[in-house]
Amino acid sequence: MVPRDQVMDKVVALTKRRGFIYPSSEIYGGLSGFYDYGPYGVSVKRAIRDLWWRHMVELRDDVVGLESTLIMPTAVWEASGHLTNFVDPLRQCLGDCKKRWRADQVFGEKCPECGGPLDDARMFNLMFRTYVGALEDRASEVYLRPETAQGMFVDFKNVINSTRLRVPFGIAQQGRGFRNEITPGNFVFRVREFDLMEMEYFVRPREDESSFHYWRNERMRWYTDVLGINASRLRFYDHPKVSLSHYSKQTTDIEYEFPFGWGELEGIADRTDYDLAVHQERSKQDLTYLDPETNERYLPWVIEPAVSVERIFITLLLDAYDEDVVNNEPRVLLRLHPKTGGHIGRRYRRQDEIGTPFCVTVDFDTLNDRAVTIRYRDSTEQERSLITELRARLDNLTST
Ligand code: GAP
Repeated sequence: MVPRDQVMDKVVALTKRRGFIYPSSEIYGGLSGFYDYGPYGVSVKRAIRDLWWRHMVELRDDVVGLESTLIMPTAVWEASGHLTNFVDPLRQCLGDCKKRWRADQVFGEKCPECGGPLDDARMFNLMFRTYVGALEDRASEVYLRPETAQGMFVDFKNVINSTRLRVPFGIAQQGRGFRNEITPGNFVFRVREFDLMEMEYFVRPREDESSFHYWRNERMRWYTDVLGINASRLRFYDHPKVSLSHYSKQTTDIEYEFPFGWGELEGIADRTDYDLAVHQERSKQDLTYLDPETNERYLPWVIEPAVSVERIFITLLLDAYDEDVVNNEPRVLLRLHPKTGGHIGRRYRRQDEIGTPFCVTVDFDTLNDRAVTIRYRDSTEQERSLITELRARLDNLTST
């Protein structure tokens, strides 16, 4: 067992050594809170995205996909409340280091870095602003989305008008989100550009409770049964009313026990009809849904499971990292679930380190017996399999 307080450093070193993650623009000194994904990192990220999509969209007949733009008009963020409420309290050091802190993370009046005085807390909006068109004036200001969710709400009418979906149903989206976090950190746990995976599940008004509980449990099951994350390191955390986002009636986080403490992996929020109602009011478009069963018109309520690929990525690596000794030689291995390992490679030890669950080796005997060797990462055991039976054998191994 690797001591828990050393795991983060070891995982960071492994991801760099083996090309999972690099600091963005490293040759220019990097950019805080931004990371690039190398050859193996891309494989794992893709596997995470594909598994989420498979379970949240493809294997269900009540959820459809959407891809909306990363840049959206200011009106969207005015209506959604993000311009006013998507803020963190900020305090700046007035002493030597001039560092900025999230006010809720500093205790007392002194800068935790240099001991200098801190200014009074002020609110800092986390959205990145840019301009569309040639003029950089107020009218051309737009924002990079801090969540994909608003795309699902502003396209809600388009989706119901162009499909035969009936409430309850969901719209899912994967894509980049941007947040100008005051204190990015803990490697890729809190970054400024990341890949969100969100699903808005529309239900009848006030029929939110059962759906909220269904999605809490369903998402927890996905982490334990599909991704194979150690259940004893996962728990639910129900937010008290004071810490709820401006749009939420109730939120439960699925938390993971990171080496730096319990932290949010995924959030499941009960957004009621907050978003559809504000967009209906501001856009002056009718966003109601006509329920063919009851003949009633209403704005559906929404349950939303939301998570970033980055949080799953770091959770998987921390959860899978291990060291042992085989044939008197120490080795590093990632005990990744077979579904998230990717397909890469050559020599066994190097494969263990990047989490490859099974290696298939073709050798000279293969020419005579038409068989290959399957070698298991965790046990290091090997078995021979006829090439004609290999596909079925691997399907069997990866379906467990
Ligand atoms: N649409 C709901 C929403 O955006 P959130 O809790 O602010 O809710 C959703 O974010 C998820 O996005 C979180 O549960 C977490 O997995 C991930 N996330 C949030 N901020 C992040 C950051 N700065 N870096 C990486 N992932 C982040």
